[in-house]
Amino acid sequence: MNSEEIIQMNHKYVIDTYGKQRTLALVKGEGSRVQDADGRSYLDFLSGLAVNGLGHCHPKVVDAIKKQAETLIHVSNLYYIEPQVLLAERLVDNSFAAKCFFCNSGAEANEAAIKLARKWGNTAGRGAGIITLMNSFHGRTLATITATGQEKFQHNFHPMVEGFKYSSLNDLGSVENAIQESTCAIMIELVQAEGGVNVADEEFVKGLERLCRERDLLLILDEVQTGMGRTGTLFAYERYGIEPDIITLAKSLGGGFPIGAMLAGPRVADVFQPGDHASTFGGNPLGSAAALATIEVMTDTGFLENVRELSHYLLERLNEITSPYDCIKEVRGLGMLIGIEFDSPVKKIVGGCLDKGLIVGTAGEKVLRLLPPLTTTRVEIDEALGLLESVLKDFTDESA
Ligand SMILES: Cc1ncc(COP(=O)(O)O)c(C=O)c1O
Repeated sequence: MNSEEIIQMNHKYVIDTYGKQRTLALVKGEGSRVQDADGRSYLDFLSGLAVNGLGHCHPKVVDAIKKQAETLIHVSNLYYIEPQVLLAERLVDNSFAAKCFFCNSGAEANEAAIKLARKWGNTAGRGAGIITLMNSFHGRTLATITATGQEKFQHNFHPMVEGFKYSSLNDLGSVENAIQESTCAIMIELVQAEGGVNVADEEFVKGLERLCRERDLLLILDEVQTGMGRTGTLFAYERYGIEPDIITLAKSLGGGFPIGAMLAGPRVADVFQPGDHASTFGGNPLGSAAALATIEVMTDTGFLENVRELSHYLLERLNEITSPYDCIKEVRGLGMLIGIEFDSPVKKIVGGCLDKGLIVGTAGEKVLRLLPPLTTTRVEIDEALGLLESVLKDFTDESA
């Protein structure tokens, strides 16, 4: 099928909830490049919204999926699953966690974290209130849109789930003020990705950790987008030198294959008991094998160090090419999660990049979001930034 045929069928048969890039039907990918149904190639600096951390069709992930698909695709969690326990061991060995729960997506991982925190709070007789932040994004299920501190994701879907309060990023006082007797947990993203690539500062995060210890609250970090190497360490919390109680993962965990996880520290690892929570596909053999291959690549010697070096280079070059443009207010981010804030909507710039063969995204209306594959190269970074620079030039020439 060509692009037009795919797009027409999509309009006819698929409920359109996404506001898609109207012209793009991608059919093939390798490394940092994807191809559309008409054979045109693009440099993908959005990585399937932070999913293709290892680029497209990484050979080790493809191999693991092929081998597992030929052996055993699915069995129920009523039975023990070898790739799942191996994956859990890897995640525990490389983190603060004592145990893992597996599911299929970021929202589902956050639901698990919310339920676990609520069981912990309720059984201790203290309550089930959860504090999250304004401009956060935690998913699209009812509990996670409630946790999400952005009205635009909630309107039309009221009533929301009870027991959530919102405070402000990098304002410890506002979190402290939101704590009530019934509060059991604070849940944040270390970089608010959808909310505009807003980075939590170290003082705030360390303060939150201290507050949670002093007030006996759980610290939950939504690492769905920041986890799995995206910020230059396997998990973003490592960059802050803190220990959370729970983190949630999805996106890059399976190297493109859908899988999510909730990692629980020693305080709460045994709160869930049989019957408390479940997910039919969670951590099934195929998903676990894909994630195991992904984490093996990411924890290979030098992998994360290279991500940090690439990030440094990318940020330096970005600052260079954007500094002449008054319409650009700030370049910010952590690792390979980068936002470029403009003084006006960036939709046209995203379209301009696409026309030149570069895929980038947005984070809110005025922030251009770059999420390159962690396996990208300096040569590809130069190519992408060359394309972006020419779009910026066209854009400013046009508006002059
Ligand atoms: C920080 C964060 N949490 C949760 C989610 C929801 O993940 P999913 O779409 O896999 O449910 C996202 C998705 O963008 C995210 O960025």
